[in-house]
Amino acid sequence: MSIQIKSNCKWVGKIDWELRKFHGEEFSTHKGSSYNAFLIRDEKTVLIDTVWSPFDKEFVKNLKKEIPLEKIDFIVINHGEVDHSGALPELMRHIPNTPIYCSANCVKSLRGQYHQDWNYHVVKTGERLSLGSKELIFIEAPMLHWPDSMFTYLTGDNILFSNDAFGQHLASERLYNDRIDQGELYQEALKYYANILTLYSPAVTKKIKELKALNLPIDMICPSHGVIWRKEPLQIVEHYLKWADNYAEDQITVAYDTMWDGTRQMAEIIVKGIVNAVPETTVKLYNLARMDKTDLMTEIFKSKAVLIGSATVNNGMLRDVAAVLEEMRGLKFKHKKAAAFGCYGWSGEAVKLISSRLDEAGFEVVNEGLRQKWAPEGETAERCFEFGQAFAAGLN
Ligand code: FEO
Repeated sequence: MSIQIKSNCKWVGKIDWELRKFHGEEFSTHKGSSYNAFLIRDEKTVLIDTVWSPFDKEFVKNLKKEIPLEKIDFIVINHGEVDHSGALPELMRHIPNTPIYCSANCVKSLRGQYHQDWNYHVVKTGERLSLGSKELIFIEAPMLHWPDSMFTYLTGDNILFSNDAFGQHLASERLYNDRIDQGELYQEALKYYANILTLYSPAVTKKIKELKALNLPIDMICPSHGVIWRKEPLQIVEHYLKWADNYAEDQITVAYDTMWDGTRQMAEIIVKGIVNAVPETTVKLYNLARMDKTDLMTEIFKSKAVLIGSATVNNGMLRDVAAVLEEMRGLKFKHKKAAAFGCYGWSGEAVKLISSRLDEAGFEVVNEGLRQKWAPEGETAERCFEFGQAFAAGLN
């Protein structure tokens, strides 16, 4: 099924309602996703991107209903990751000599994945491709979010095909940003940014400034996942600038794992201390072992400070805590404060180890953390409360 989005441009992608995990088992997609591809017809016909490989035959079959495949003059691949290039092998079986326009790094990526010597045409920022009455302008966008990523702009219709940037993992038949619930849209757009783009925030800011300097009128931004931004399309660009600038809301997130409940009890008392000190601040408390990790990273992205807790086991921290800290390191969060806490019975190394990992991950560790021998009660419970109070009060 295709959808006309402009007089000579159709969406020819795939809505994946079933998708619940992306990037292997890493990224949760509670609301599915879509792989957006577009067919532009002018004097020349061009296909922009394809879909994920499990849908390759369906994609090519549907494309054949739109146009005899040999009438496609060019293919543009904005990014080589398999969710967008996955149908290329099937498509190229039918039209093996059709030129593929992409960045130099994208050629490496396509060759590396599909081992095919297709008819590649490397393009750089500012290069143009005439379609007859309109042109495509290519804008390389390295690290948004792979080295090969690129935007393609269509003159006349003023459409920016931005690939992953400005996307959301959100399956919807309501194709446009003004036709769906705004809370749901922004929840998914922010989750996408937090988990995929946070570490490339300096590149995001630089690229958006470059894009603005090009002074291209933009009527529509078509990302490769989720809905198209047609109503006030630059709103998502402005949000990206905000998210890329050490974003934090007035939120503190407390996340822990526990063995026999001591660390959970600590966490709950600490939260009471925080609330006592800063009642207006949003506080979120999670057992991170039971929490979706992609959603947890989104909450950490939104937070100005985090507290991470673990019981001590085998002279270290619980494994889910270690996994979360590794993900926090990878995303390179900036300008966030942190501290550790944890309950122990015998040796109690977890707190020191967590503090060290938080520091390595770029968090400002504001104290030595709170080690609690056995479960908190009375005076030691009071110490947890005061720890939460002091942590929160120290943030202002
Ligand atoms: Fe949607 Fe980087 O692939």
